[in-house]
Amino acid sequence: MALFRSLAAAALAAMASASTSSPPGHGGLAARADAGGCPNTLEVAYAPPVAAKGWQYRLAATGFKTPRSIAFDDDGGLLVVDSGVGVFRVTLDQDKGETCVVMGAPKKIISSAELNHGLALSDDGKTLYASSSSSVFAWAYDSKAGTVGGANRTVVANMSSTDRTTRTLLLSRRQPGVLVVSRGTVDDGDPAAGDKASGHAQIRAFDVGRLGPRDAALDFADGAVLGWGLRNSVGVAEDPAAGGVWSVENSNGVLTRDGRDIHDDNPAEELNYHGRLNDGATAADQGGNYGFPLCYALWNTTGFPDLGALRTGDQFPGPGAAAKKLSDASCKADYVAPRLVFQAHSAPLDIKFNGDGSRAFITFHGSWNRKSPVGYRIASVAFNGKTGEPSAARDSTSAAVDVLSSPDLGGCPDGCFRPVGLAWDSKGRLWASSDSTGEIFVLYQNGTTDGGGSGGTRALLADRAATWAVVLAAVVAGLFLA
Ligand SMILES: *[C@@H]1O[C@H](CO)[C@@H](O)[C@H](O)[C@H]1NC(C)=O
Ligand SMILES: *[C@@H]1O[C@H](CO)[C@@H](O)[C@H](O)[C@H]1NC(C)=O
Ligand SMILES: *[C@@H]1O[C@H](CO)[C@@H](O)[C@H](O)[C@H]1NC(C)=O
Ligand SMILES: *[C@@H]1O[C@H](CO)[C@@H](O)[C@H](O)[C@H]1NC(C)=O
Repeated sequence: MALFRSLAAAALAAMASASTSSPPGHGGLAARADAGGCPNTLEVAYAPPVAAKGWQYRLAATGFKTPRSIAFDDDGGLLVVDSGVGVFRVTLDQDKGETCVVMGAPKKIISSAELNHGLALSDDGKTLYASSSSSVFAWAYDSKAGTVGGANRTVVANMSSTDRTTRTLLLSRRQPGVLVVSRGTVDDGDPAAGDKASGHAQIRAFDVGRLGPRDAALDFADGAVLGWGLRNSVGVAEDPAAGGVWSVENSNGVLTRDGRDIHDDNPAEELNYHGRLNDGATAADQGGNYGFPLCYALWNTTGFPDLGALRTGDQFPGPGAAAKKLSDASCKADYVAPRLVFQAHSAPLDIKFNGDGSRAFITFHGSWNRKSPVGYRIASVAFNGKTGEPSAARDSTSAAVDVLSSPDLGGCPDGCFRPVGLAWDSKGRLWASSDSTGEIFVLYQNGTTDGGGSGGTRALLADRAATWAVVLAAVVAGLFLA
């Protein structure tokens, strides 16, 4: 983890500084001590998320507008894309180990209303990439000073759209200089996504490391196709052990089969595999068609019209496939199937592997058009280090296990955290942004986890959860009394 090698030094330097002053909303209350002896006393203003056994977490920073992707630089600075605002750098004023951290005031290093999601640092840490809906920009970056050098360069262009506007960025460690860019559909139906040449709903790779300061931007259409027919694969990651590129796809919000509305539990969100970057033309599954807008993956088989031989994870034709006379069998035979599937509408937005590639952590932003909300959690999926494949079977409905989850989904989306971006720091802590609440969380596994969602939560947070349960009960009672 060359990227983070200087965090310890930076943290020690920060601890030596007595200052805990911050502007309101960015940790200004940090000097007060809480019951656990940690000077960070930030609290969420809703029912606190619950950590799985063996995990602890803490609210680390607040006051962002819409924080999306996050990343650590070589000097332990946390970079945050605040959508519609720009890029911030935040350092640790105090680091007392595990999750006891006090963040300093965020410093805005790039001011831009255009930047809305993607963020990546080059292998040497000296180039910062960030994306708008139409372009990927690059800046010279100095992590010691925590500043970007003057003007930006456009490195990838021509990705504009009216609908899915995030352009997730992944800088390969296996192939330094290769930037993977994920682009979703340009509008809701997007029939053009069925044409590979359209460049819609695809993940492509670009050798941006070769671009000189005066070189023209690359056209999105000129990138190497890692996959197409991918409705909106917001999270993209490279397995540090086996080297494969994986993405998590957000599937359709509405869907019918045999004229019946099946949208509550179908289609599934997907985990897709895109081969390894330097395997060239021989890469398994690389560049294939993953189905959108014709074929979708099955999540819940219960009550599914005309189920036939379909199992969870199999693809089946959507209404748009009728004209092409696609069947369950041809969707299975002619399109790349997901390696794993997740609850419909749970909205996976980021995926980050741990250091040895044995687990992938995924943020589930949560549903917006399902009767009972789902998602609103960070979960992990086990991988087999030898094969580089998920440990669970393709038809598993329990592969994603809770790491941090919302205690009462009934209050979502308003009363819940909505996790988006993930980043590891040099001390093995996992950091996460929550866009709707403007927050950054820090998580740490300090005990044996069963991966399950119950027990093991910090006592303090359990107390807060109990308090909130009382408050919620009072509110509900109030409603009935009114
Ligand atoms: C990149 O630089 C151009 C030219 O100065 C400027 O107009 C544009 O706003 C910049 N884009 C971002 C994202 O900073
Ligand atoms: C973007 O597309 C336009 C129209 O097709 C083309 O003229 C332009 O050269 C493209 N830009 C880049 C950077 O390739
Ligand atoms: C499928 O739907 C049934 C009926 O609503 C429900 O009991 C079951 O838990 C669901 N299964 C999954 C995997 O979501
Ligand atoms: C992990 O941290 C929590 C919260 O600080 C603490 O209650 C628990 O005892 C710790 N577990 C281990 C194994 O150290």
